[in-house]
Amino acid sequence: MARLNSYYKQLEREYIFPIIEDKLSQLQKNFPEMTPINLGVGDISLPLAPSIAQAICVATQEMTEAPRGYGPSDGYLFLKEAICKNHYAGLGIAPDEIFISDGTNTDTANIQELFSLNNIVGIADPTYPVYLDTNIMAGRSANIKLLPCTEENGFCPLPPEQHCDIIYLCTPNNPTGVALTRDQLKKWVAYAQKENAVLLIDNAYEAFITSPDVPKTIFEIEGAKDVAIEFKSFSKSAGFTGLRCAYTVLPKSVHSGELYPLWKKRQSTKSNGVSYPIQKGAEAVFSSQGKQETEAQVRLYLQEARRLKEGLTKMGYTCFGGENSPFVWWKTPNNLTSWQFFDLLLEKCHIISVPGSGFGKHGEGYVRLSAFTTPALSTLALEKICNLQ
Ligand SMILES: Cc1ncc(COP(=O)(O)O)c(C=O)c1O
Repeated sequence: MARLNSYYKQLEREYIFPIIEDKLSQLQKNFPEMTPINLGVGDISLPLAPSIAQAICVATQEMTEAPRGYGPSDGYLFLKEAICKNHYAGLGIAPDEIFISDGTNTDTANIQELFSLNNIVGIADPTYPVYLDTNIMAGRSANIKLLPCTEENGFCPLPPEQHCDIIYLCTPNNPTGVALTRDQLKKWVAYAQKENAVLLIDNAYEAFITSPDVPKTIFEIEGAKDVAIEFKSFSKSAGFTGLRCAYTVLPKSVHSGELYPLWKKRQSTKSNGVSYPIQKGAEAVFSSQGKQETEAQVRLYLQEARRLKEGLTKMGYTCFGGENSPFVWWKTPNNLTSWQFFDLLLEKCHIISVPGSGFGKHGEGYVRLSAFTTPALSTLALEKICNLQ
């Protein structure tokens, strides 16, 4: 008899998005006229930039003229070079330390395969659920140490007293919208050096960083190349959620050079890479037109995040994030639970948010609003919330 992976059963996370869907369809049955304002989605709301679409079309056309089959499993050199030049100039990262993939979701889920099961794994909480879930699915549930992101520590976990072998940090963090500063990242690098640990830094929202004291990459911190692996994505920075392209930066020096060959082996064994047209589309993000178009999109998302945060703050609510991130982390009023406040916003304002408790136990008492919306919708949302008062 085929026996199953029992660790999958240990995953007890509440699947919030189906619950949100159910609640929404129930409300729509009761109020068929209602148009919900969706500030819950973590997906882009603007169309693909023309320069990217053009590059994908040209690359696809090329394939009608000459065959182009499997590419390198870890990505084409043209894209790795463009990434190095545009994101890592002067930081000593070589193109072959960049591994192209179909998503940061995939990479942050898979990286744990390189480590043995008895490692102690530090994971920020609340955060992107993939890190915790994939470690549980792999059989590490007994070895997980949550690193609370709370109002008291400004939602920025500092290195713990105890030893951890692997640490997942998301900066700017989804869902809190708060980013780690240079000084905080220095402390993490020093901790990893002292504990001989590895930092796994999810930097999927790097494009949203505007504060000068927040580094655009962990590799700006001295010593990081020996202890850190970074994950970046074209999803939110360039509208690739439906196209799929991301990358992992794994310097050869990390963990005394032991991890580089393992990740290379893992990727070449388990992946045939990302399609040529999509990688050409990603390369176009770094063209002057691509930069202009995608930076304008990010500016618009940031503007909406700021507007939501400022509007709510003026009404007397307590909000965090929304400056280096498309997410606003809204503290529930009157000690409501995340779900109670979610229900109130849905029923009274027809606004969809995401309950903070879905991102970890320290997310209880918050909801996440996403600025992947339009100016008209965030204005309408603010008006409705104002009437709620
Ligand atoms: C922190 C974080 N990392 C990764 C991802 C997924 O990125 P990708 O689309 O590249 O798989 C998301 C998507 O919401 C995210 O919030």
